[in-house]
Amino acid sequence: MHSVIEHQSEFSAHSNDPNKAYWSNFYSNSKELPFEPSGFSLYALHFLRSRLEKKSKFHILDLGCGNGRDSYFFSSNGYKVTGIDPSSQIETDKFQFIQKNVFEIELKGFDVYYLRFVVHALLESDCDQLFANLSHLPPDSLIMFETRSTTNITNEEKSETFFRSPIGDEHFRMLYSKDYMDRKVSERFTILKSSESADVAVFKSENPFCLRYIIQPKC
Ligand SMILES: C[S@@+](CC[C@H](N)C(=O)[O-])C[C@H]1O[C@@H](n2cnc3c(N)ncnc32)[C@H](O)[C@@H]1O
Repeated sequence: MHSVIEHQSEFSAHSNDPNKAYWSNFYSNSKELPFEPSGFSLYALHFLRSRLEKKSKFHILDLGCGNGRDSYFFSSNGYKVTGIDPSSQIETDKFQFIQKNVFEIELKGFDVYYLRFVVHALLESDCDQLFANLSHLPPDSLIMFETRSTTNITNEEKSETFFRSPIGDEHFRMLYSKDYMDRKVSERFTILKSSESADVAVFKSENPFCLRYIIQPKC
């Protein structure tokens, strides 16, 4: 069980990116970061292959791509990929990288919108704004995200947390319960798949419960 410190003064004033300094520092010391694809990228690839079998040129936008490990993985599997992240710097000929945040990029024009462990990095107000922006995309757009749940942390509907983990020092994470996220998402999207589980994102000593969603904008 994590110890959770409710974040207070530093983030109570509205900030669009509560972890900017944390992630910039994290990626500038990126030697120890995992470069193998995440479990969620394997899950997403499996889904895309089953659904988009004849459309392998589909363009994936990896929002908050971090060090680009999942962008690289999708690209290696034949997909056209654009990865964006405000805090990392990636030079590669495998995919297009843009150093921007989710509100600085034109969302239209992609087929798949992939967010791994990014929803919990956003303030809830920003998450809601991002979902609103994504909901205006064409109804055949696929939005896939994995995010940490409150299970075994606070077990609340939602919690703003600020705790240390094997990924590094204390930093902001906005956690949601499955029920709460179901309600949030179903306002604007059709849910194709959703789940909550541990054992999907094990990292060193940590085995968090995670929510996974594949959704499409409602017509
Ligand atoms: C836990 S890391 C996940 C990185 C990557 N998706 C992965 O799974 O390895 C969270 C990432 O979200 C990014 N991020 C935070 N706020 C963001 C925003 N507003 N727009 C885009 N990316 C953001 C951070 O810079 C960081 O790279």
